[in-house]
This record gives sequence, structure tokens and C-alpha cells, in this order.
Amino acid sequence: MKPLLHLRGVEARYGHFVALQNVSLIVPEGAVVALLGPNGAGKTTLLRTVSGMMSLSRGEIIFDGAPIQRLPDYAIARRGLAHIPEGRGIFPSLTVRENLLMAGYGAPNGDGALGRVYELFPVLAQRREQAAGTLSGGEQQMLSLARGVITRPKLLAVDELSLGLAPILVAQLFDTVARIRDSGTSILLVEQYVRHALRLADIVVILHKGRVAFIGEPGELAHDDSLVESYLGGKSSARFGVASEDAVALPMKATASSQRSKKRRVSRG
Ligand SMILES: Nc1ncnc2c1ncn2[C@@H]1O[C@H](COP(=O)(O)OP(=O)(O)OP(=O)(O)O)[C@@H](O)[C@H]1O
Ligand SMILES: [Mg+2]
Repeated sequence: MKPLLHLRGVEARYGHFVALQNVSLIVPEGAVVALLGPNGAGKTTLLRTVSGMMSLSRGEIIFDGAPIQRLPDYAIARRGLAHIPEGRGIFPSLTVRENLLMAGYGAPNGDGALGRVYELFPVLAQRREQAAGTLSGGEQQMLSLARGVITRPKLLAVDELSLGLAPILVAQLFDTVARIRDSGTSILLVEQYVRHALRLADIVVILHKGRVAFIGEPGELAHDDSLVESYLGGKSSARFGVASEDAVALPMKATASSQRSKKRRVSRG
């Protein structure tokens, strides 16, 4: 698979504090890469650095064949890298439709773009004239995802989209993310629901104290309890999605991901 995003030796600082140190990773074209790690590991910082919200102090970021680390955020967005930040980033007093049109401003074929987004997010089609601030939490998360999708990005970088949502909504959100991937958009996903993330991801990257602690396929991680415990177990039980809805969603997702990767074995009895 061709690399779409390539970080090489990236360092990022807040003043003297080094938040990312020698981070190298690749997001291949068409892939979902899950970025995991405990609180404060540097996941949000990595997405901010990639999208140009923050400048790096060392290293290089190649996107779609060209270096982007010196470009401003709007120029990076225009090249097809959509960043959906932590928190929702929507305009509460505008309607769903207006929020989408603003996000899609300048995108080719505005009307067609709206239709496509409504197809992907039927709940937003139903609520198109409702003020965004009155949507439920899950609907608002759908809207922020849709605002990223409407620009038809090559890469969608999503930060903790499921934060604060009930497990059933998280499962829906992940189904939608899978459909976005199937439509040809690569995804860099920061996620607290580790099990959901592992089912969807082609590659997993674990950050720990600003460094890459693990890169591999989800299957490798699922069999390595010590790795999981040392880097992911500490945060909360939510990290491993112990809710029953999560377990129910497993067979369907496992089938979908096994179709995508011939190499990976998902059957664990
Ligand atoms: N604006 C800032 N100024 C100073 N330090 C910051 C700033 N933003 C983040 N940090 C620090 O950088 C480190 C990485 O933070 P970051 O937000 O990237 O972590 P994270 O992996 O996204 O964590 P979480 O899972 O809690 O969202 C943390 O130690 C954090 O306190
Ligand atoms: Mg974060």
C-alpha cells in the first residue's frame, strides 16, 4: 500500500516540554490507523501537528507525496487532510444544513456533496433544519464527522469522537467510520474504545510519553496482554470497552475486518 501520510522523526514541544519525540509512522492509502495510548501520551498533539495547528520542532511530515510541515493549517486542509478536533467544533446556533454547507464551502459540487453526506448520515438528513446546538451528543458527533467528510478528504484525522457517548452510539459511530473508509478515505483515528478501534484498524500505533511504543497489526496486540496492560490498561475499563454492547458488536465487525485483511487472523475461538 502506498503511504498517504508519512511522519519521520517528528518532535513537537510546548515551550520546553517535549510532547512528541522522534515519532515516525505511516498511514497507507485506504487504511485505518488507530492511534492509542494513555492520557497525556501525545495523541492530540500528534493530530494537531499533522494538521498544521501546531508547528513541529524537528522531523518531516509528507502528505500525498509532498512535505507539509511548513504549511499553514488551511493549506493542509485544502490538500485533503481533514482534522476533526477533540470537542465538537460545530456552530450551535446554525442548522445542521448550514453547518455542513460552511464546512463544505469551496468543495466541488456543493449540492451533490450534501446529498452524499445525508446518505452516509441519515440521522442528519432527518434533522437538517434543526439548530446544531439542540442535537443529542451522538448526533453532534455525527455532525462533526460529517463536516470533515463533506470536503471529500483523502485523510480524515479524528480525535476521540466517541468521548462521552453511550456504547450503543459508539457502535453506530464506528459503523459510519467504516463506511467512510470504504468510500476511499484513509483514517487516522484517536480512540478511547480500544476494542472498537482494534476491530476497525488495519494498523495500530501506541504512543507512550510522546514516543511510539508499538506499531503493528491489531491481531498482534490482541495476543499481547503485557503490552496492552502496560500501555492501555491503566486509563479505565472504558479503554477496553467492557460494556455488553461492545461484545455484541464483535462478530459483525470482526467479519468486516477479516475480509479486508487476508493476513490477519481474527478467529480467536
Ligand atoms: N497547550 C499546552 N501547553 C502545555 N502542555 C500541553 C499543552 N497541550 C498538551 N500539553 C501536554 O502535552 C502532553 C500531551 O498532551 P495531549 O493532549 O497530546 O495528550 P493525549 O494523548 O491527547 O491525552 P488524552 O488521552 O488525555 O486526550 C500532556 O502531558 C499535556 O499536558
Ligand atoms: Mg487528547
